[in-house]
Order: sequence, then structure tokens, then C-alpha cells
Amino acid sequence: MTFSNRLIQWYLENKRDLPWRNTTNPYKIWLSEIILQQTRVAQGLPYYERFVETFPTVFDLANASEEQVLKLWQGLGYYSRGRNLHKTAQIIAFELNGTFPKTYNDLLKLKGIGTYTAAAIASFSQKEVVPVVDGNVFRVLARYFDVETDISSATAKKEFSALANEIIDKKRPDLFNQALMEFGALQCVPKNPNCLQCIFNESCAALQKKKVDLLPIKLKKT
Ligand code: ADE
Repeated sequence: MTFSNRLIQWYLENKRDLPWRNTTNPYKIWLSEIILQQTRVAQGLPYYERFVETFPTVFDLANASEEQVLKLWQGLGYYSRGRNLHKTAQIIAFELNGTFPKTYNDLLKLKGIGTYTAAAIASFSQKEVVPVVDGNVFRVLARYFDVETDISSATAKKEFSALANEIIDKKRPDLFNQALMEFGALQCVPKNPNCLQCIFNESCAALQKKKVDLLPIKLKKT
């Protein structure tokens, strides 16, 4: 059994049923990812529901006033995120005629969309084979493969992306990416993970070397 197959099997049995996982609409996936940056799922969920309800399409969001968008954003913090969301919606609606970019490279051309969000939208909406690398993914891969790279270093993202690229499920990159993030969020948690009942407890390098609590390595506080 490969890492990927085992991970996806775990995911299908343990995943939380979250609304943005039941859509391939890039606009909705984008909304969810922007809301979930620096925000916990439980906190972000009602915001996601309100945004989708109030602004069902990128045109609705683009045509709203900034005031209306920020009012709905209230409580999420980091208001620049909300402002940026609105501006990016206007570029997609008015400069790209409402056609949401779907490929990783086209998404990256938008000023408001970085590598993480571009990979999430491209893989979840189109099954494009690009790895999604967030804090959860750093942790799972650092532990499973005993990677001692400092995750706060400039080159960490590139290195972990390359590693994820070697193990990603080419036929199911969407499931693989969701599964890796969910595994980090629910099982391979930062503090006191329950390795006794982990599906990878016979192959995890960190567990075998008693390094679970030492990985991932993060030298700088962010
Ligand atoms: N946090 C960021 N993106 C997420 C996603 N797609 N599912 C669950 N939690 C997330």
C-alpha cells in the first residue's frame, strides 16, 4: 500500500464534511481558502456560508461596495484580506469577463493569489496535479520522512513542494491534497499527536526515531 493510497483511504473514512469540499466551483473554493487563511475552520465556516449566500458569483462580489464586503468580513480580522478579496473579484469580473482562471499558472498571474491558493484552486476545481503546501503539510511530511529543513526558511516551501510532488496521487490530486491537510489537522497535530492509533505508525520516520515532538523544525517565530 502506498503512502498516498493509505492517506486517501484514511481521509474518506475520517474527513469532516465541509461545504467547500462538495464543489468544484473555483470561485467558491477561492472564497473558502481566503477565509480560512489564519482562521480556524469552526470560525470560518459561518463566514463562508454568508459570503456564498450574499455573493453567489464573482460578479456579485465585484459589484458590491467595499463597505458591504468589509461588513460581512467583520470579526475575521486582517481586513487587508477582505479588501484584497474584493479587488481580485473586480479584476476577474471586469478585466477577465468573469472567467475565473483555473490553471495554476493563470491563477498565479493574479496579484491577490499566491502559490498556496493557486494550488488549492487548480487541484480542487480541475484536478491539476499540483501539491498544496500549508503548515499542516509541512508537519506531516517533516515527520513522516524525517525532514530537518527549517520550515521558516526561504527555501522550505520549494523543498516540501518537491517532496509532495513525488508522492502526490496523479489521478486524484484533489483528494490527495485535501487528505494531507486533513491528516495534519486531525491526526498529525502539533502537540501530543496520538501516534499509537495512527495509520502510519509502522512507517513514520519521526516516530521510529522518537523525533515526533522535534519536527517540524521552525527556527523563526512568525
Ligand atoms: N484550511 C485551509 N484550507 C482548507 C480546506 N480546504 N479544508 C479544510 N481546512 C482548510
